[in-house]
Amino acid sequence: MAIESLGYVGVRAKDLDDWTKYGCGLLGLQRVDKSRSSIALRMDDRRQRLIVDADGGEGVSFFGWETTAAGMADIAARLERAGVKYERGSRALADQRHVAELIFFEDPAHNRLEIFHGAEIASDPFKPGRNMSGFRTGPLGLGHILYNVASDELCTALMTFYREILGFRLTDYYSNPFTAFFMHVNPRHHSMAFVRSDKTCIHHVMMEVYSFDDMGQGYDIALGEPGRVATTLGRHTSDYITSFYSWCPSGFMVEYGWGARSIDMDTWVAAERSEGPSMWGHDRSWLSPEAQAAARKLRLGHAESGLRRPVQVMEGNYHLMEGVCPWLDNARKG
Ligand SMILES: [Fe+2]
Repeated sequence: MAIESLGYVGVRAKDLDDWTKYGCGLLGLQRVDKSRSSIALRMDDRRQRLIVDADGGEGVSFFGWETTAAGMADIAARLERAGVKYERGSRALADQRHVAELIFFEDPAHNRLEIFHGAEIASDPFKPGRNMSGFRTGPLGLGHILYNVASDELCTALMTFYREILGFRLTDYYSNPFTAFFMHVNPRHHSMAFVRSDKTCIHHVMMEVYSFDDMGQGYDIALGEPGRVATTLGRHTSDYITSFYSWCPSGFMVEYGWGARSIDMDTWVAAERSEGPSMWGHDRSWLSPEAQAAARKLRLGHAESGLRRPVQVMEGNYHLMEGVCPWLDNARKG
């Protein structure tokens, strides 16, 4: 028994209205008021997926990982055996999180992790904050998180902690143009990833939308605000997602994407990837000019070698076209 998915994320902010404008107007989340200084943002039938506390800070205050009642007991036992201190959440805290029960503790990077089971379902259907078709969540969870880690030692400690105590499995990893490790807990290619960086902090939270056009229209909305887009439209080599990144009001990025692949957990074998993070696009304005140039060189190499991956679509989300190009038909035949 282990973690099943990323259930919720708590973020710190200066102003709730900033998050309403960004979260609802750009991402398409639904605002639910919790108190004078906090709101919940829905992305599906759950009561809350993102919890925003206007305490004047920024970054993430807690990560909520979902399991079963038996899974929670198992993780508590493993924490005890490893000598990691944890606490049981009070009834009041469980009510605040809209879950049956939770335990909480810190990972080696001092992130507050909450392991819970029994998330409440809302009585009313999800109503997106803008006209879009919704988010791909369910058993895959709310999306993924990627974390900056400032030392090799901490990277190793986090890997050991997440794999041995929480049951995460390594999907793949690479070391060029930077070092990164991707881990899964369900068929989503990664629910958690670490990147070796010069600081230790949250890098981004990823949300996946149902429709390709939901993502593109979000990109148009983001482009309308100077400085909002952090990473241009592009496609990842790891999970094949087409996405862009924008700065959220809590000082980190949100990756907004469509078409991530699902992996077969029973047959997947972790391996090193040499292609870097992106097949094309994803110009990272926040990187140094040297790092941007290195990433661009890698991508132009992909253009030269013709790196292509099939688009990942869901039933009902596509029309299969006739092949109309004799040249392409011949190329497909062999
Ligand atoms: Fe990502």
